[in-house]
Amino acid sequence: MHPLYSELIEQSIKAKKHSYSPYSKFSVGAALLTSTNKIYTGTNVESASYSLSICAERVAFTKAVSEGEKKFKAIAISASIKDYIYPCGACRQFMYEFGKDLDVIIIKSKKDFLIIKLADLLPGAFDKRSLKL
Ligand code: THU
Repeated sequence: MHPLYSELIEQSIKAKKHSYSPYSKFSVGAALLTSTNKIYTGTNVESASYSLSICAERVAFTKAVSEGEKKFKAIAISASIKDYIYPCGACRQFMYEFGKDLDVIIIKSKKDFLIIKLADLLPGAFDKRSLKL
């Protein structure tokens, strides 16, 4: 395991603190590690117009990409439940844009987590090659 993954897990758990989730009351935290070893965090942000809510993973990615980052090693995801939190389908597709080799760290607790390649979470993905660009 990469030496920074424990730090990434801790930051994901901490990121939940700022979750804005008055409707679902379900807090999610994400911490994204870039290829240059920088960490960007994110949390879910909900809206009274429910469908406008955005997941923690996409917040972390948009923060990083808007700062010029495009290459990533891993994302750690945690939630306010005592079980593993798998990324939703929309986030799997969104993250795939930046690489199928991303390590997705699915956290149950600080010491109990799974590391799964994004390609294994989204087999047969639609991506830029599908557009033949
Ligand atoms: N949520 C995430 O932030 N990430 C996921 O991968 C799954 C769901 C959020 C969206 C919503 O604010 C709440 O969890 C309940 O669905």
